[in-house]
Amino acid sequence: MIVCHCNRITSADIDDAVTCMKKNCSNPDLCPKKVYEELGACPKCCNCFPLAEKLIKESTLRFISQSEIANGSLAG
Ligand code: FES
Repeated sequence: MIVCHCNRITSADIDDAVTCMKKNCSNPDLCPKKVYEELGACPKCCNCFPLAEKLIKESTLRFISQSEIANGSLAG
């Protein structure tokens, strides 16, 4: 799904960027502007920011959940 029409950024692009940023830094600044910079893009109209913020939150939660499973911290 295209999220940002100005930069042709997809939801998969955002998920990939969030995953990369989380892997490289434990507490990255995950605002749309920083995520777009990670993708080599620059915000223009910013109409996509509300949806981008929602997707960034979802990707962050998914990354944390997958990390916990990989680390065995959810094992009972
Ligand atoms: S739609 Fe994303 S910057 Fe314009």
